Amino acid sequence: MERIPEPELMEEKKQVISYDEADFSEGEINLINQIDHYLLRKNISLGEEDLIVDLGCGPGNISEKLAIKWPNTEVVGIDGSKEMILRAEHNKNISTIQKKLKKLRYVCSDIKDIKSNNFLLKKRISLLVSNSLIHHITNLEDFFKTIRSLSSNITVNFHKDLKRPLDEKSALELKIQCETKYNEILCNDYYASLRASYTFNELKNFTLENDLSSLDVYEDGDKYLIVYGNV
Ligand SMILES: C[S@@+](CC[C@H](N)C(=O)[O-])C[C@H]1O[C@@H](n2cnc3c(N)ncnc32)[C@H](O)[C@@H]1O
Repeated sequence: MERIPEPELMEEKKQVISYDEADFSEGEINLINQIDHYLLRKNISLGEEDLIVDLGCGPGNISEKLAIKWPNTEVVGIDGSKEMILRAEHNKNISTIQKKLKKLRYVCSDIKDIKSNNFLLKKRISLLVSNSLIHHITNLEDFFKTIRSLSSNITVNFHKDLKRPLDEKSALELKIQCETKYNEILCNDYYASLRASYTFNELKNFTLENDLSSLDVYEDGDKYLIVYGNV
């Protein structure tokens, strides 16, 4: 199936509310566990000196879970949509576990405009994460350029996203499955996201052709791709 790009930022209020109100916790907990296992395997423990950055953080679902998992580590969630950042701030403010979120903050910025020497990065990033972001980025090189510029030799990258289905029929089947659980706005967005997603070969070939072979790409089940490692 040909890739059909979708808008990068999620800015429509209805779209943001639908996304924020949906329960994706199973997949989110799974991602935090995957990151944790990877760090353990690499013998890396995160503490007060470290910085975690969550690119395309949306309403903060992953950022909050990162902050809860590593409460002594500074976590910065970044999103280019003002509406999403407002939601993320709101979710943080109404959280019942404020104590664990005191080192979490949000920044509204397009990922393409972040420079490693500005506001956030008084220290080097130890863990650079994204979930469901890559498919939003129109040109793959913009995503990799960003993570390359934000990474240093201590930065562990871990980016998870949807994998583009083989054909239209498979994409429609996934949309129908989505409709059993989520509302129409969200399922339409999911369908657009599936069509905008990249394939394993597109991500893998990009890394091989652009001197990024220290990053690995793997298929996580039949629906997801993970790009991880050092840049
Ligand atoms: C599908 S949501 C995922 C949100 C969150 N990572 C999660 O897993 O719940 C994708 C988010 O990426 C943001 N985004 C897309 N392109 C972006 C860009 N170029 N710069 C900053 N944020 C971007 C969108 O605004 C949206 O909030």
